[in-house]
Amino acid sequence: MTTPFRGRRRVLKAGLAGLATAIPVWGCATRSQDSTPLLGFAAVPVSTGDAVNVPPGYRAQVLYRWGDAVGIAGAQPEFRFDAGNSAAEQAQQAGMHHDAIEFFALPGGGGLLAVNHEYTDDGLLHADGMKNWSAEKVRKSQAAHGVAVIEVSQRGAEWQLVRPSQYARRITASTPIRMAGPAAGSALTGGVEALGTFNNCAGGRTPWGTYLTCEENFNNYFVNGGAIPREQMRYGINARGGGYRWHEFDPRFDAQANPLEPNRFGWVVEIDPYDPRAQPVKRTALGRFKHEGAMVTLAADRRVVVYMGDDERFEYIYKFVSSKPYAPENRGANSALLDEGTLFVARFEPNGAGQWLALPKSAEALVYTRLAADAAGATKMDRPEWIAVHPVTQDVYVSLTNNDRRGAAGQPGVDGVNPRPDNVYGHILKWREEGGDPAAAKLRWEVFALAGEDKGFGSPDGLWFDPRGVLWIETDVSTSALNRGPYAKLGNNQMLAADVTSGEIRRFLTGPSGCEITGVTMAPDGRTLFINIQHPGEPASERSNPDAPRAVSNWPDFRPDGRPRSATLAIRREDGGHIGT
Ligand code: FEO
Ligand code: CA
Ligand code: CA
Repeated sequence: MTTPFRGRRRVLKAGLAGLATAIPVWGCATRSQDSTPLLGFAAVPVSTGDAVNVPPGYRAQVLYRWGDAVGIAGAQPEFRFDAGNSAAEQAQQAGMHHDAIEFFALPGGGGLLAVNHEYTDDGLLHADGMKNWSAEKVRKSQAAHGVAVIEVSQRGAEWQLVRPSQYARRITASTPIRMAGPAAGSALTGGVEALGTFNNCAGGRTPWGTYLTCEENFNNYFVNGGAIPREQMRYGINARGGGYRWHEFDPRFDAQANPLEPNRFGWVVEIDPYDPRAQPVKRTALGRFKHEGAMVTLAADRRVVVYMGDDERFEYIYKFVSSKPYAPENRGANSALLDEGTLFVARFEPNGAGQWLALPKSAEALVYTRLAADAAGATKMDRPEWIAVHPVTQDVYVSLTNNDRRGAAGQPGVDGVNPRPDNVYGHILKWREEGGDPAAAKLRWEVFALAGEDKGFGSPDGLWFDPRGVLWIETDVSTSALNRGPYAKLGNNQMLAADVTSGEIRRFLTGPSGCEITGVTMAPDGRTLFINIQHPGEPASERSNPDAPRAVSNWPDFRPDGRPRSATLAIRREDGGHIGT
């Protein structure tokens, strides 16, 4: 196995003996000798159309839509365009609302895609929406959440699903999941197994070739009609919930009757895509909050560092540093690396300094991480979303998507660090760890980009560096704000590419009506970009009218009897060249 270190460049490898490199090395992110510009495509204009637009010379193929069979042998139900599939069928099909995506190479070509299915629009999921609410509808909603592992292969310029595939798998809101780390088995989680994962937002990948999926707005699935304890209130659990109505037929989601159940959600879950029999694991050492993503990199001494955002107004940025180093020669030796280490929370000073504050290693601090971070004096941020690490400089970038509320006077850091009192467009902040070491205790930060009408985008969410050093930015303007008010001129949600050296940000893609753009990775050869179109057709209320499923969008099928479907795109150049050049 080759070393993951190339001078200052720490390229993460799959670490799986016999498998192709998961994150490729092509080209070079430092353009020292030649004058080839980092960005080589023609910008696309803003759009309000119900279509995916890419630059001239590029093609976007719809690869994997909500309701497509994932490819489990003997269990490949066809999608019913009237939303008539049963809960059992939905558990064998792509879930709704695709989010994070990662590519895991297979020996001999092709690969596995791990895809999050973040949440559901129950107005589209069932033929008659949320009328006649039933246990079957709850089961179908739960089955449309979670994660999928699919096998994909390439034939010429086209990608396709390999079906059936021995790897094909769905993990849903009712799949048994092991809990590991300091909070597992504690009195606060009440056991070492949880049922399911849901609201899987962004994600990450480890150097040993596993997928990390992050549980974000888990509170929306619970209701508590009684006196709400401080610990539930701090995570937003209330008497109404987010309208999923699971509690009406599944008592697990009554947080008054089952006060420990919410404590089993809000974690980072590790999945081995190469072993469909391996049980997923909730890694409690990484803390419990509204996890956006989990960006993994290596410290100078090969300890594993995971950067994570808590996506809510005035919440925090965290990093986990493992106790033990990554072992590139021995995949099995890494299986518990994320169970032992220290969780830190960031404090940013207005003068550009910053420090990482260590949180206690107790089960209490890990289950009620927000309370521990409050006590530590962390800096309240404008909704931390994805975090990306530059492949050469190791500089860290975070999307702070927006914040339409003013911080209360006296909140530490708010006025000095978040650059606008009403940050409706969001910004991207960057920092450098002391000595360039991700495990450092101190950092220096600055604003990389203030989004806004003049920049042509707002509400940055997905953020990812490709191996050439292009920073890809995906936007998630909420459907209640899209194409109106401050966003009147910014069109549908979009994807942009940034040259972080020059500061240029160029629009690469616009999405169909009512969608957000999220999830991003590349095939190992750098010639296919995979992204997700999430919730095309979503109305401002975030729940469709079942009597008018095509009211906002009919992408991607455009059938007269169809309905909009979240989907994975495989984007290639018509000449087969590297993406972005
Ligand atoms: Fe699921 Fe914060 O986006
Ligand atoms: Ca997101
Ligand atoms: Ca989002």
